[in-house]
Amino acid sequence: MAQGRILDVLPTGVAVVTSRKGEKINGLTIAWMTQVSYNPPLVVISVAPQRYTYEFIMESKVFAINLLDAGQQALAKHFGSSSGREVDKFKNVPYSTKRTGAPILKEAIAYLECDVVSTFAAGDHSLIVGHVIDSETLKNVAPLIFRAEEYF
Ligand SMILES: Cc1cc2nc3c(=O)[nH]c(=O)nc-3n(C[C@H](O)[C@H](O)[C@H](O)COP(=O)(O)O)c2cc1C
Repeated sequence: MAQGRILDVLPTGVAVVTSRKGEKINGLTIAWMTQVSYNPPLVVISVAPQRYTYEFIMESKVFAINLLDAGQQALAKHFGSSSGREVDKFKNVPYSTKRTGAPILKEAIAYLECDVVSTFAAGDHSLIVGHVIDSETLKNVAPLIFRAEEYF
């Protein structure tokens, strides 16, 4: 197996990470994320610096993780196959905003709103550590588990 592909065997969920930049909003699909601390509650997401959403997170210092359910591959592809530089990915996607102003998808299983507390360069991605300042579980269903062959 190619060395890059071996990373796809580690089980993760799939989420749409959203952020804002002034009045603008954007979001991307991510699979590389995990919880890292209970007290304070911290999570880490791994985002490539060339993603448009990365600019939003770096400027506003906030993001929201919107966890997808097992039937939402199409939504994962929608946010993960085009850039907000070219399209408005929120055009037909219902959302609201709460504490941070980062979009909360109405169809998500759960959301975690975060303030950025630190970032670390990590190869071709950047690790962004977020302090969870607000969260809610919106429905009790199975999460979407990342399977590379469903997307690439
Ligand atoms: C299932 C899936 C998982 C992905 N996981 C990540 C990830 O963990 N980190 C990342 O930077 N990009 C990831 N991507 C790629 C971005 O979602 C994709 O490049 C997106 O179009 C970037 O959008 P933006 O330029 O509007 O930010 C993933 C894509 C898919 C379909």
